[in-house]
Amino acid sequence: MPSVNDPAIPVYSASIGSWKFSVSRRPLGALELAKRYDRMAAKWSHLTGRLGYPQAYERLWKEFLSEANLVPAGYPLRLLDCGVGTGSFALAFARAWAAPVCVDAVDVSDMMIEQARQRFRQEGYEVSIQCADVCALPYPDNQFDLVMAAHVLEHLPDPVDALKEMRRTLKPGGWLMLCLTRESTLGSYVQLKWRTHRLTPERGESWLNAAGLDAERMNLASSGWFRQTSIACVGRKPDQPLKNLNYEQSC
Ligand SMILES: C[S@@+](CC[C@H](N)C(=O)[O-])C[C@H]1O[C@@H](n2cnc3c(N)ncnc32)[C@H](O)[C@@H]1O
Repeated sequence: MPSVNDPAIPVYSASIGSWKFSVSRRPLGALELAKRYDRMAAKWSHLTGRLGYPQAYERLWKEFLSEANLVPAGYPLRLLDCGVGTGSFALAFARAWAAPVCVDAVDVSDMMIEQARQRFRQEGYEVSIQCADVCALPYPDNQFDLVMAAHVLEHLPDPVDALKEMRRTLKPGGWLMLCLTRESTLGSYVQLKWRTHRLTPERGESWLNAAGLDAERMNLASSGWFRQTSIACVGRKPDQPLKNLNYEQSC
């Protein structure tokens, strides 16, 4: 079992007698990733749409919202999408939430950000997106009711550091939703192409716990292609009492 802080991406391991063999791979750096995603930005929504991701995201959010208590009735919800891409995950949430929401987002790819801004505009939502690394979020502590990251953490050499950043920006008791590449045949294909981690729900839980988050649900129901490639899980920042937590702040 690789350490949660191991910077290399574990690809394969086997034991024969007293021997243990493992193969790992250097992940793509933030700059290399940004360039790759810049090149894919114009076709990303079309591609993921054909694979049914937007529908899978909406289904996930409906299931999540049927169980989670997010903000007191009548207050706007503040959400942060980490690695927003072209916006599909946050937009799916906004549609399912159908109440006031203030959306912040970060990504390292300028072209993905441009596409996301257009899509939010087209759908009539305001959004503030910054070009920033998820490992150094440009927000103060305790800001968000909900932080989300779909298919981002598995790119990182230090996913637990990124989760600690997300935890920092969450309000106490705030929620975290993650989609991660699954350990499966299609997950192996994604790993080969993108040098990502592949996760079991148990490994996802060890990441959450290492970042000081509670693992609430580790394998939400999903369907179609998404089910073959991904796991979806929910974490929560422990709810310590905090002075000056003000729900009435505006976006
Ligand atoms: C697989 S795409 C997912 C996009 C979107 N979340 C979705 O589900 O459609 C991964 C996104 O994460 C961004 N990304 C990768 N590494 C990042 C980092 N270190 N910080 C912020 N964004 C990152 C990429 O630029 C890309 O837009």
